[in-house]
Amino acid sequence: MKSIIIYYSNSGTTKKLAERIQNVFGGDLVVVEPYGVYFHALKRVSEERKNQIIAAYTMPSVDLNEIDVVFVGFPLWYSEAPEFLMDCLKRYDFMGKKIIPFSTSGASHIKNSLKSLQSSVGDSEIICPLNQGLILKDNFDKWVDNVKGIMSVIATNK
Ligand SMILES: Cc1cc2nc3c(=O)[nH]c(=O)nc-3n(C[C@H](O)[C@H](O)[C@H](O)COP(=O)(O)O)c2cc1C
Repeated sequence: MKSIIIYYSNSGTTKKLAERIQNVFGGDLVVVEPYGVYFHALKRVSEERKNQIIAAYTMPSVDLNEIDVVFVGFPLWYSEAPEFLMDCLKRYDFMGKKIIPFSTSGASHIKNSLKSLQSSVGDSEIICPLNQGLILKDNFDKWVDNVKGIMSVIATNK
């Protein structure tokens, strides 16, 4: 049973969560970086959304052979995942893999972002989304137990 963690973090919160997940489940951490900084992020993101611009980004080369579970992490930006990250995901072949999304936020919930995530990962099944917002925070330990249970089923069925 192998997993990998693909994520983006602008100000470090999602990075910390990605590392916490790595501590539990192992797997490589893969960062997708946009070109340029999101320093005035509120302004840049709203301008990009308004003009339907997808920021250019570097696409990491990732060996997905033997990977069963792909964790995908992002901050919620106006309730959605960053477009460039969703665009990047479309370029990988996740067929047959389980996708486990995790997000950080102020008050928004990850469920708002799952539709665009689904359209980026094709027919792959999205399971066990984890929201770690300042206000809406899922129980991390319970989530870990759920994910471990699913991973052991995947391992048994291999
Ligand atoms: C452009 C922008 C838009 C945001 N929109 C939301 C939002 O709609 N809802 C929310 O709860 N938090 C929102 N936030 C807060 C971030 O989701 C939150 O600070 C997140 O943890 C940042 O993660 P990071 O440090 O990994 O970049 C927004 C932040 C930025 C920069």
